[in-house]
Amino acid sequence: MPLFHNLYEVEEQARAVLSAQAYDYFAGGANDEITVAANRRAFDALSLRYRVLVDVSRRRLSCRLFGREIPAPLVVAPIAFQRLAHPNGEVASARAAAAQGLPFTASTFATTSLEEIRAASAGPLWFQLYVHEDRGITQDLVARAAAAGFEALVLTVDVPEIGRRERDERNGFRLGADLRAANFLPQAGGAPHAPSGGSGLASFVRRMRDASLSWKDLEWLRGLSSMPLVLKGVVRADDAKRAVDHGAAGIVVSNHGGRQLDTAIPSLQALPEVVAAVDGGAVVMMDGGIRRGTDVAKALALGARAVMVGRPVLWGLAAAGEAGVERVLSLLRDELDLAMALLGAPDLAALTPDLLA
Ligand SMILES: Cc1cc2nc3c(=O)[nH]c(=O)nc-3n(C[C@H](O)[C@H](O)[C@H](O)COP(=O)(O)O)c2cc1C
Repeated sequence: MPLFHNLYEVEEQARAVLSAQAYDYFAGGANDEITVAANRRAFDALSLRYRVLVDVSRRRLSCRLFGREIPAPLVVAPIAFQRLAHPNGEVASARAAAAQGLPFTASTFATTSLEEIRAASAGPLWFQLYVHEDRGITQDLVARAAAAGFEALVLTVDVPEIGRRERDERNGFRLGADLRAANFLPQAGGAPHAPSGGSGLASFVRRMRDASLSWKDLEWLRGLSSMPLVLKGVVRADDAKRAVDHGAAGIVVSNHGGRQLDTAIPSLQALPEVVAAVDGGAVVMMDGGIRRGTDVAKALALGARAVMVGRPVLWGLAAAGEAGVERVLSLLRDELDLAMALLGAPDLAALTPDLLA
């Protein structure tokens, strides 16, 4: 018996085992959650113009990302506080990604330190960075990631302030006393449980990010390590071009899964202008709303090299730990494989815009 048949079913299973507070933190978005829904609707609004009588008997899903060949164009998105979903948290999801040969992106706000994640997984690891007001703390984090063999530095650029997650405010969301942001010493603010009357998370993040960060800081960041720099959260052609001009090796077209600026443009809709502006000068990826193999095919047809998967990983983790995350990733891979066969696309290069209507 498979654990679940698709990425919607596993969300229902996760919801049944999570506290309402944890489920709301994971599922929710900013304000009216219009962008959360719009990210999905953008995929559903595209139809597929499939080709027939193409030899698809041998299909290749592998793609190259920052010098490494990976078996499918899928990357685990950075997600904070994964031990809230399952006691094994990031260790379980990183291991599941490694078992599939896929990159796992560790959040700055992981509940497992980056060294512990490295020790648990032999697979490719990326590190997602929030720049702390104390630049020394940031410098130290980047050095630790590089020393632990992380292969890309993913700078999240859509959180100058944290979006208003009204579900978390209503629930007074905070981590239990046994969980903390493990990359930080407690005295550096690693404990987002202080009651604050609203969301404990919001007040925590406010202390941990620097709203003054700007383009001129990228050179400093690039100089901290030799990891390729990836900017996550870009949705405009002009910003994408600036990112390339400032030496970014990659861009993730993303609106943070609808958790930051509500009514922000759906990622899929922003993707073509970013791809055109970058013009091959950096690797373009996207995230937000990927739930089916056909979604991955649509993103790649619009020019993404790969996609990041966010909430479904959490649902797999909550429902069945490491095996659940493995199933989420392998389901998505298998769905993409089938979609490619039915589209008449034997490899990723054959996923072209003419497939879309
Ligand atoms: C619970 C949760 C926590 C997240 N934490 C982070 C984070 O720490 N850093 C980050 O850059 N993005 C974070 N994100 C955003 C994801 O990396 C990703 O952009 C988003 O989830 C993609 O949309 P999807 O969930 O529809 O796949 C988080 C998303 C969720 C749902």
